[in-house]
Amino acid sequence: VIRGVVFDMDGVLTDTLEFHYQTWQRLADEENIPFDRKANEALRGLSRRDSLMAILGDRMLGEAIVEEMLDRKNRYFLEFIQTMTQDHLLPGVLDLLQELRSDGIRIAIASASQNVDLVTRQLGLTDWVDAITNVYNVPHPKPAPDVFLYAAEQIGLPPHQCIAIEDAESGVKAALDARMWVVGLGPQERVGAAHVILSNLNSVRWKDLLDKIQCCR
Ligand code: BG6
Ligand code: MG
Repeated sequence: VIRGVVFDMDGVLTDTLEFHYQTWQRLADEENIPFDRKANEALRGLSRRDSLMAILGDRMLGEAIVEEMLDRKNRYFLEFIQTMTQDHLLPGVLDLLQELRSDGIRIAIASASQNVDLVTRQLGLTDWVDAITNVYNVPHPKPAPDVFLYAAEQIGLPPHQCIAIEDAESGVKAALDARMWVVGLGPQERVGAAHVILSNLNSVRWKDLLDKIQCCR
């Protein structure tokens, strides 16, 4: 039986990709490092540090400089987050949460974002979830399974009783390695490894989702 759902945040509950793009672009421009939307797409789901490492490529910088860049990027990002409200929830999310609640399903968020608590609050979701975990609560970021394992522990369930919902390749891998049932949101090239693939959560009914998972068991 499925008793819990663990949501990724960015790209699943809300679309912050554009905010991340704008802020990485601003930093890259300041540092004269080439960057564009296509390069940003490859950063989906990666931690802030892993994202910066990908942007820097083979440029070798000292730790203090790296830290300063990570802080600066986040300062820019926080400016966007302040503007977020419940209107930034992706279509279908609230309906699905409502169904999960009335079915007694435990709900967690497992995010690579250090801003997960703040964004959850801005979206008005704090009272909807039983646990919020991020990669800073665990030793290894996604694609390691740690954050999903920790989320399952936080809601008191074994991973195989949980469905994870993810939009990033690294997140799908993390959830699969945690032995959860995985719903991937997005194109086959990105989330093709998931048990069930959907384009988004718009109009997704909990019962239908359970049926789809049932089919691959
Ligand atoms: C992930 C996003 O959820 O969080 C990434 O998909 C982002 O794009 C990462 O880099 C880290 O976020 P933050 O808020 O800690 O910079
Ligand atoms: Mg994501």
